[in-house]
Amino acid sequence: MPDLEPPPANNAALVDFLLRQRRIGLLRFLTCGSVDDGKSTLIGRLLYDSKLIFDDHLAALERDSRKHGTVGEDIDFALLMDGLEAEREQGITIDVAYRFFTTDRRRFIVADTPGHEQYTRNMATGASNAELAVVLVDARNGVLTQTRRHSFIAALMGIRTVVLAVNKMDLVGFDQARFAAIRDDYAHAVRELGFRSLVSIPISARFGDNVTAAGTRMPWYEGPTLLSHLETVDVSAEATEQPFRMPVQWVNRPNLDFRGYSGTIAAGRVKVGDRVAVAPAGNASTVTSIVTMDATLDEAVAGEAVTLALADQIDISRGDVLAAADKPVAVADKFDAEVVWLNEQPLFPGRSYLFKLGTRTVSGSITRILYRIDVNTYAHASAGTLGVNDVAKVSISLAAPLAMERFCDNHTLGGFIAIDRLSHATVAVGRVDMLAHVSNNIVWHAMGVDKRARAVAMGQRPVVLWLTGLSGAGKSTIAGLVETRLHALGRHTYVLDGDNLRHGLNRDLGFSEVDRVENIRRAAETARLMADAGLIVLASFISPYRSDREFARERFDPGDFLEVFIDTPIEECRRRDPKGLYKRADAGLIRNFTGVDAPYEPPLSPDLVLATTTSSAETLAERVVEELHARGYFDPDTAAPRGDSESESGAGKR
Ligand code: ADX
Repeated sequence: MPDLEPPPANNAALVDFLLRQRRIGLLRFLTCGSVDDGKSTLIGRLLYDSKLIFDDHLAALERDSRKHGTVGEDIDFALLMDGLEAEREQGITIDVAYRFFTTDRRRFIVADTPGHEQYTRNMATGASNAELAVVLVDARNGVLTQTRRHSFIAALMGIRTVVLAVNKMDLVGFDQARFAAIRDDYAHAVRELGFRSLVSIPISARFGDNVTAAGTRMPWYEGPTLLSHLETVDVSAEATEQPFRMPVQWVNRPNLDFRGYSGTIAAGRVKVGDRVAVAPAGNASTVTSIVTMDATLDEAVAGEAVTLALADQIDISRGDVLAAADKPVAVADKFDAEVVWLNEQPLFPGRSYLFKLGTRTVSGSITRILYRIDVNTYAHASAGTLGVNDVAKVSISLAAPLAMERFCDNHTLGGFIAIDRLSHATVAVGRVDMLAHVSNNIVWHAMGVDKRARAVAMGQRPVVLWLTGLSGAGKSTIAGLVETRLHALGRHTYVLDGDNLRHGLNRDLGFSEVDRVENIRRAAETARLMADAGLIVLASFISPYRSDREFARERFDPGDFLEVFIDTPIEECRRRDPKGLYKRADAGLIRNFTGVDAPYEPPLSPDLVLATTTSSAETLAERVVEELHARGYFDPDTAAPRGDSESESGAGKR
């Protein structure tokens, strides 16, 4: 351990002091660079030279802790789990191995992103809780696009302390001028990334020069070795100087007399007697006690896990944020952000994803790509979609308002990830840049007469039957027949049909993936309004993408949306070809035709499957009506049948 300062006199300073000690004790860092820059060699060298090699395997770590049986080892273990747990919670797939090593002065966790190719995604994962990045470049190649991209992502993930390790100096004859040129080139490349500390070190990972010992071959270099720099660099943030923020991780209620709110303080400090406000709700109370695992405190600061008790019984749940009442945290459902797109599937604006910010996850979408950022030049370019590794400024809209802050003010409440709702893969990482819109300005206007009242008046429970299937599968035919039957039973219905909507509301949309996303979004919103009006809605759209149908489903209360798969094999649709579209698509006259040169993703768990090759459309329509009745959407006795032939005639061909 480094020399200790004399213990401070008062309590607040002691807390600060202990916190700093804790930080000095452990450094989490990651290494990044292009393939073959020597990352593995460098990590191996550090582990080997530090002589205390810890296997990253948990079993080995446990064995070790038992062997030494000291509190110190336990802390190592706990800290390790901390990091992994946080990532698991964030839904990030762990493609990263954590390795440990210890010297007399510090303990280290290095995030090693394995694989022949270093994917940006792994790098972003590793960076998500690292305090420092070692950026490796090959002295022969200098600064590459990949170097810039990784530096950009490191900055995006909140890393402010960087080491540029110019490796393979042995292969450039330990040339001082070469090192200086790369150092200057890199400093210029990252000048806008806001790094607080950048130290450049010429090394040879293979032979060990300047890794743990200086060696004799670069006498011109007078700076620290890599290891001595890692042992001493100060990475402590100024988080304790910011206003108090604590996302509530759980509500702690051991008995009827005590209710506490537990979490890790993300920024600032809190004292007994402080006024705190709850976001997003906005109500406030006073802190009556601060409890930790083993003590009751008068004051706590950023980085500490505490439980707060408040003077008033107010409604606070997991995911809410406690903040200094005089500096409340912003609440927004629309904001601009910088994101790195990590998914192999491109981003299409409007598609729905889950956004995890702080301790809360809500659905939302990237509504607009403001511009793509070139990581080499930082130039802005307009873009309609984002590919894997693209960096962009975007606008995001969430389904519910969340407490959030600009990333530059608070990493915990300003950093987020986007998750694919079906595969649970992390598709983007991002940082809140600007709160474009504070929610309370637009609220859903609750009218005196509501959905329930309208439904009761109509004697039915509104529902959307979402018919999905290939072109020519029979969606519109079945929708028409179902409507005719429901109408005859005195039910109130409407058919929303892809072809028809595309003549009006959606006339500006074509059949590219991005347009289909928007087509289904508008269709789902329209269906929602109609269900709100009390109607039984038959929505008939190819809707080829699962995620878009999932978006549609999520706009409804459970039971108000039924996905109906019109299951007709493509060969049969092709044989029927009612509009001659397959013939034209095969002849290359129509592009992006579903099933021909555009995908169809069949439902995985539809509420109803109608196989049109084994039953007639009439039989299937009858089944749908029976199903609605059986599920209690209407009672056939509550309205007089209206089976007159005029009203039946028009229904099928709207
Ligand atoms: S969706 O894919 O966006 O859900 P939607 O159901 O609105 O499609 O419209 C599909 C109808 O548009 C088809 O029934 C067909 O008549 C017509 N159409 C024209 N071009 C295409 C195409 N490239 N792919 C699919 N349908 C097309």
